[in-house]
Amino acid sequence: MNSTNGDLYKLLNKLGRLPENFDEKPLLNLLNHQSAKVRFLVVKNLAKLSNFSLIETYINLISSDESSTVRREAASAIGRLRNPNAKQTMFKLLDDNDPEVVLQSIRGLLVFKKDEDVINKLLKLKEHPNEIIQEVIKKEFKLNNDKISNDEDHTKSPDFMKNAVIQGDVRETLKLVPDESVHLTFTSPPYYNARDYSTYKSYQEYLDFLEEIFKEVHRVTKEGRFFLLNTSPIIIPRVGRQYSSKRYPIPYDIHPLLIKMGWEFIDDIVWAKPEASVKNRNAGFLQHRKPLGYKPNACSECVMVYRKKTDKLIDWNIKQYDKKIVEESKINGDYESSNIWNIDPTFDKTHSAVFPIELCNKVIKFYSFKGDLVFDPFAGSGTFGKSAMNLNRFFFLTEQKKQYVDRIKENMSQSKIFSDNNFKPRFLNTKEFEKVIKK
Ligand SMILES: C[S@@+](CC[C@H](N)C(=O)[O-])C[C@H]1O[C@@H](n2cnc3c(N)ncnc32)[C@H](O)[C@@H]1O
Repeated sequence: MNSTNGDLYKLLNKLGRLPENFDEKPLLNLLNHQSAKVRFLVVKNLAKLSNFSLIETYINLISSDESSTVRREAASAIGRLRNPNAKQTMFKLLDDNDPEVVLQSIRGLLVFKKDEDVINKLLKLKEHPNEIIQEVIKKEFKLNNDKISNDEDHTKSPDFMKNAVIQGDVRETLKLVPDESVHLTFTSPPYYNARDYSTYKSYQEYLDFLEEIFKEVHRVTKEGRFFLLNTSPIIIPRVGRQYSSKRYPIPYDIHPLLIKMGWEFIDDIVWAKPEASVKNRNAGFLQHRKPLGYKPNACSECVMVYRKKTDKLIDWNIKQYDKKIVEESKINGDYESSNIWNIDPTFDKTHSAVFPIELCNKVIKFYSFKGDLVFDPFAGSGTFGKSAMNLNRFFFLTEQKKQYVDRIKENMSQSKIFSDNNFKPRFLNTKEFEKVIKK
């Protein structure tokens, strides 16, 4: 940035409200300035004048300025004219190649939302190739036929699920779970065939299995609430010396399935482990140092964050709670300010892939309120449930293997919390759970 440009930026940024008799000529001259930032700021200031005679200037900029920021600001300036005579121009801009220009024109046209011609033109955009444009139109014209959830119920969950651990296939258990009953799900599914607790005939069968379960998780999740999925790419060792080992990018393969079923991608958190705690893949490379033979140690796991897709903003979710609960659920003091969470792995005598409690604690604190019902469909040793209990949330866990459910019992019996809890942990199989629901 040279000093002249710097001064100009400052000046243009500080212009504030412009008087009615403002002479726009000096600003217009700056529209030929070589700096796109200057041209952008000029358009921003010109827009404050709401002067319809500038429409040709804006149209010229949209058709010829090389900077997309300037073009977009010019489209916004046309909208800000709020003048019915600008409608035809905005209609034309709906065909622009830049989705941002189209969006600015939509915003401008929505001022005339009751006009028949505006409605017809905008409704055509519900099939626009750009997903954000489609969403805006669907939201503005209420074309989403999503089920309307009952606001009053948002903070509540069924008593029969509170602090229940169900032993059985999660696919069977989930059939018994009502729609929109869970506030948060955090889980780490089997790692395809990399560990000893599950076997799948093929990778496709494994993905189909997860897809079926996560569709159900979506159904039982409350409007706009979160689903955090911990997975990582895995390696299946080579069959023999003449074969390569095979790598499966599990999080990347599950991601498109989740989006298709109605989860919205929110964040990718990286769980980073100390290098010394993971399997060493470097031994060969350390010796030979040849390109292509490089194998980094896999010290990270993905914690992908999704939200059940809704038109409602996070604020709506928060507003469903009593102020007292919101206050008590606040995360005070230090917190993870980046998406890299450094957490040591935990090793368990019974289970080969347990969550560190620290990871569960963070997830629960960041993504739920006190009194919420949190769910882990692949509970293993039940770390997530233990964390929920410690943090005054209710848990609902499902786990197929009896030996792990026994481990959950053992883990929970060591916790002092549930002696003063109305919902003591209950251990049922799927049939017993069904009977409880029918009562
Ligand atoms: C990666 S482990 C989860 C470990 C857990 N996060 C913990 O902290 O202990 C996956 C678990 O899913 C369980 N599982 C596999 N298939 C299942 C199914 N169909 N229904 C319920 N649980 C299943 C396995 O027995 C295993 O304990």
